[in-house]
Amino acid sequence: MVKTKSRYVCQNCGYVSPHYFGRCPNCGAWNQMVEEVYTADANKKVGGSSNGVQSQPVALDAVNLDDNKRIPTHISELDRVLGGGVVPGSLVLIGGDPGIGKSTLLMQVSGQLAKTSGEQVLYVSGEESASQIRLRAERLGVGGKHVVVYPETDMDLIRRAIKEVKPGFLIIDSVQTMNEPALASAAGSVSQVREVTNELMRIAKNDGLTTFVVGHVTKDGAIAGPKMLEHMVDTVLYFEGDMHHTYRILRAVKNRYGSTNEIGIFSMEEDGLHVVDNPSESFLEERLPHATGSAIVVSMEGTRPILVEIQALMSPTLFGNAKRTTTGIDHNRAALIMAVLEKRANLLLQNQDAYLKATGGVKLDEPAIDLAIAMAVASSYQDAEVDPGDCFVGEIGLTGEIRRVNRIESRIEEAAKLGFKRIFVPKNNLSRYNPTAKIQVVGVTTITQCLQQALKPSKAALAEKGGRGA
Ligand code: TYD
Ligand code: MG
Repeated sequence: MVKTKSRYVCQNCGYVSPHYFGRCPNCGAWNQMVEEVYTADANKKVGGSSNGVQSQPVALDAVNLDDNKRIPTHISELDRVLGGGVVPGSLVLIGGDPGIGKSTLLMQVSGQLAKTSGEQVLYVSGEESASQIRLRAERLGVGGKHVVVYPETDMDLIRRAIKEVKPGFLIIDSVQTMNEPALASAAGSVSQVREVTNELMRIAKNDGLTTFVVGHVTKDGAIAGPKMLEHMVDTVLYFEGDMHHTYRILRAVKNRYGSTNEIGIFSMEEDGLHVVDNPSESFLEERLPHATGSAIVVSMEGTRPILVEIQALMSPTLFGNAKRTTTGIDHNRAALIMAVLEKRANLLLQNQDAYLKATGGVKLDEPAIDLAIAMAVASSYQDAEVDPGDCFVGEIGLTGEIRRVNRIESRIEEAAKLGFKRIFVPKNNLSRYNPTAKIQVVGVTTITQCLQQALKPSKAALAEKGGRGA
């Protein structure tokens, strides 16, 4: 007879204890310990080598590199994020808010992989019925007998289906709905998610089955389940973006087979996700000419420069402390830049509420965006326009100096490619720069210098001044 035991598992961090605690001794969360009954048998399987494969010590030179061949998904932005395609036998976890497009992306991936590899794709969904999946697939133009859908949540049955179908690719939508029957706890609980992921990892490695897994995201943006979920899998991608915007950004937060700073940009259309070939153009297309409080930055996302509009709106504080509200820009960075503007450029910002935004739903977090933030703030505050043909790159130091940034050549080239006339860059960056691009490059050393050269008073401000003068 199989022996059953009971234990308490923290639903927040996965801490396991034979006793109940009101407060988890590991992470300090209250009321998170949940009793679980498990069979001693099921637990044994977890021990030993995590991927179930017996391996031998081998000299570094003798390691076979063929193991890292990639299969292109033929969805260019996804391939870019994965580092050129998906590695056979790897497990890719895709997280993101509900409704962001995870199922849509994986259905499109299934269609592409089935078409180009000729192997079966097993699409297991614990969330939708087969007919719902088919309806979506038809909308996306995915069809054929190579995509096998299987609405199931029981891991025993899924293992059996894998044996029968012998797929080349496995899609699990989503890990929180899957259920390992050997464990007594409910689907979605910490131990279930951990066990199911462990099992999927084992299947992926043993059978060389390339697996994509959808993971739900909690309120604070982490993948729901134990923290170690992200450590277990090979690659973690996050789907970001605002559900109400068309743009979706796919970001790698972990990649055992490639870099993690590439992003993929998609737009959600009537017939599914489309890759955005020229993101800079798309991010700028709604820009108003001659508006104040707007400046363009050339930001590097991985190896790719993209141009994004930064907007600022300053308005006098009516009550209490001045507010600083940001979207897509780090709040502390914005506060710091405003303090520098106040101290070094004599802009009286302390009694101004500031609203800052990176348009298009992107999140920017590199120091090189500082200068554009400062220009947008100053432009709004002084009601002075930034020339629509100008763009800005540079980090701002606490003494108001403009500091050197990386990859200046590709930034300048991208700006030139999109028809910008002038780019303001840190002067220090220009010592080794050979001008090749068709754009005027202006080197600046301080923030005041940049403000003087790039801001021109708006027509409204001029008219007001003229009126006052008369
Ligand atoms: P979905 O892939 O179901 O999201 P997730 O699996 O991440 O929860 O995407 C759902 C949203 O995408 C839904 O709001 C409708 C929209 N959508 C389109 O706009 N076009 C399409 O072709 C499809 C399939 C979905
Ligand atoms: Mg879904």
